[in-house]
Amino acid sequence: MAVRKVRENIYSIGAIDWDRRLFDELIPLPKGTTYNAYLIKGSEKTALLDTVDPPMEGELLTNLKKLNIDRIDYVISHHAEQDHSGTISKILEIYPEAKLVTDDKCKSMLMDLHLIPEERFKVIKDKETLSLGDKTLEFILTPWVHWPETMVTYLKEDKILFSCDFFGSHYASSELFVTDETKVLEDAKRYYAEIMMPFRAQIKRNLEKLEGYEIDMIAPSHGPIYDKPNIIINAYKDWTSLKVKNEVVIAYVSMHGSTKKMVNYLVDALIDKGIKVTPYNLIETDIGELAMSLVDAATLVLGTPTVLVGPHPGAVYAAVLANALKPKTKNIGIIGSYGWGGKAVDTLKTLIPNLKADILGPVLSKGYPQDEDYKALLKLADEIQKKHKDLNLM
Ligand code: FEO
Repeated sequence: MAVRKVRENIYSIGAIDWDRRLFDELIPLPKGTTYNAYLIKGSEKTALLDTVDPPMEGELLTNLKKLNIDRIDYVISHHAEQDHSGTISKILEIYPEAKLVTDDKCKSMLMDLHLIPEERFKVIKDKETLSLGDKTLEFILTPWVHWPETMVTYLKEDKILFSCDFFGSHYASSELFVTDETKVLEDAKRYYAEIMMPFRAQIKRNLEKLEGYEIDMIAPSHGPIYDKPNIIINAYKDWTSLKVKNEVVIAYVSMHGSTKKMVNYLVDALIDKGIKVTPYNLIETDIGELAMSLVDAATLVLGTPTVLVGPHPGAVYAAVLANALKPKTKNIGIIGSYGWGGKAVDTLKTLIPNLKADILGPVLSKGYPQDEDYKALLKLADEIQKKHKDLNLM
């Protein structure tokens, strides 16, 4: 990535990963991602804020050369995950005078992950400041965005918040700043759903903590910079609120068509009742889309055939994922089919202990669905409608 000037003496010098399609071997990246690292040149000291994923090391080093940086005084590490910390060891080798500035938890993780010796660290506490001369960094501990050690940096004179994963989006773009707000908010919502949603309560606390700061710009470590920060701050407030929407997400697998027939019937019944519904065929779908839908949906329906006496592994995956993501979902319906018996419903229920939701149904058809199964699905749609009405969603 080319060196890009954010403001006077503040540069974005990280890398754009146009081709990456999977993060943590789990999260789809349909639009690639960026690993943003920032260089701040104060009148007395120079700081590098985060680094890049190891395969992109060359880009970061080239950018430092382009700016003729022969001394770095501080490397600020906001988060120990390797996409930001993976090149720190190399930077410390090239710039032997640099101190690695981070909080106590992150120090411990960086020592474990990268075997960085203790003497290279300068450990800071919450709200501690560090002067670069004419620029002052304030460190704010913001745990769980995305790991327990995460923190952000507020550059006081420029009113810029360097937020690392917090407020980020996986979006490879040559544009330094947000230009299409609708598009970026969609990417940011996907990112929130996949990375941040499990830590909703802690994120709310971090948002409250940031309320005391006047922020002109948010510079995350993935995706473009927000020069109108309220759009992403308000979106986060909405996503982390208790509010759910009049929406049903159906995550299903069908082997021979019975479960799919039931899903289609339920979809139509819910549409008839004025409820937004989105079915996801788990064999085809991008799980990021599913995660994004779970940010707001009041109800999740899991659909599965019975295979090897239990739920289909595709449905197991969706249940485990939903349980890990901890969405606000208030109701969970279970539908599906079986040939001669099994424990699909019991097994699915044991997989979702984190979801504090009412279980609706189940509706299971023996073989291809028949009249009584359709009646049961209509009853399930009625139940969902009543639950949504009780929540004042319709
Ligand atoms: Fe971008 Fe949690 O790393």
